[in-house]
Amino acid sequence: MGIKLGMVGLGQFGRAFTKLFAAHPLVDKLALCDCEADRIKEQLDDPAIAIKSSAQDCYTSLDDICKADLDAIVVITQPWLHAPQCLQVMESGKYVYSAVPVICLPDFDECMDWCGKICETVKRTGMQYMLGETTIYRPQTMFCRRMADAGRFGKFVYAEGEYVHDVDARCNLREVNKNRFTGKVGSQAAALFKSYLDRGILESSMAYPTHSISGPIYAMRTHAVKVNAYGVPNVNGDEFFKGFCFPDVAALYQLENGASLRICEFREIGASAIDREESEIFRIFGQNGSFARNIWQENFRIRPELVKPLESTKLTDIEMRDPLPEEVKNAFMTALMPNAKPGEDFNPTGHGGSHPYLVHEFVSSVAERRESAIPAREACHWMAMAAAAHRSALHDGETVRVAKFD
Ligand SMILES: NC(=O)c1ccc[n+]([C@@H]2O[C@H](COP(=O)([O-])OP(=O)(O)OC[C@H]3O[C@@H](n4cnc5c(N)ncnc54)[C@H](O)[C@@H]3O)[C@@H](O)[C@H]2O)c1
Repeated sequence: MGIKLGMVGLGQFGRAFTKLFAAHPLVDKLALCDCEADRIKEQLDDPAIAIKSSAQDCYTSLDDICKADLDAIVVITQPWLHAPQCLQVMESGKYVYSAVPVICLPDFDECMDWCGKICETVKRTGMQYMLGETTIYRPQTMFCRRMADAGRFGKFVYAEGEYVHDVDARCNLREVNKNRFTGKVGSQAAALFKSYLDRGILESSMAYPTHSISGPIYAMRTHAVKVNAYGVPNVNGDEFFKGFCFPDVAALYQLENGASLRICEFREIGASAIDREESEIFRIFGQNGSFARNIWQENFRIRPELVKPLESTKLTDIEMRDPLPEEVKNAFMTALMPNAKPGEDFNPTGHGGSHPYLVHEFVSSVAERRESAIPAREACHWMAMAAAAHRSALHDGETVRVAKFD
């Protein structure tokens, strides 16, 4: 049986998901919500969306869409709003999907309180929460999780992940913020952020940590135990970083699996990527196998008789990805690639091709009434890793333990 789905937040990022949710074969109805009515109209005018949506299924407030007869709601609103809005959705008896991160505020203690509330609400209401972290469905993450599950890395030794996004990069953070701080909801944010500044609570690049942390942690199925981190302050007085203590932070974690993990969150940086390939990516090294720059290397020392010289294999995205179910792939193809030639295969796009996978995972988890692949306790642990790194950086790299949400 299909599901009835709602979407709140039809801004820059939300718009990239409406067609995919409307096209999924298990979605019977798609309700739309944004407090800017023109954003709803723009979506409804698209025939690929109108097949599952109508004017009666549109709302201009979260309160109203929460009262509607729906199974689940997707929240793609401004990052400082996610946690309270997701709680409201779950309290109204619906599954919820949140854009990343769980919440983004300058006060990490407050972020951790919200994480606690989210995990408690999942447990008490039985409603499930999924974090829409794009890195989880990048081809590299899918491949490394398969190799890890097959034991091909051997004992994990070291990993590193990063999100390198300079403020003036092609996706310009000054413009992104200008857009998010306008409109009915966004215009209230300046006063909110000033209230933190007035109390001396400064922002950090670690407040948006999931693209760097999630990939290696998810692939290795592990958690962090403790961290030492260092921050670099802004020195040239750039207005964008006025409320920041650290635009750039590097952290070294000890993991439960015995390996170390280096994480970088850089926003003021003269680089587009650390390894010249991707700006949000990772590398994982094990005693038997390693992955970096789309290359898998293996020494086959899992059994003595198998040992041979190190082998290197350069992989394509297609080789690294997990398959999507045929009927889902075909439905996405019809909606997104109407001009495809006969025999052409579906080409997943959006943050390394992750968008169709995120949509499929959330819709099927709701239809099957199960926990998603990115549940609250994992998402909140990634936030706890960031909070611990921030505390360490504020205290000259002192060792800080990382909280877990069971
Ligand atoms: N790779 C990734 O995972 C990735 C990439 C880009 C953005 N994002 C995340 O996506 C989110 C959205 O970013 P964006 O650039 O689209 O922001 P945006 O400001 O363009 O859009 C947010 C929309 O939410 C609406 N909204 C907020 N609260 C509402 C409410 N209570 N009721 C109705 N409408 C409401 C706003 O009116 C606005 O249209 C952010 O949290 C960001 O972190 C993630």
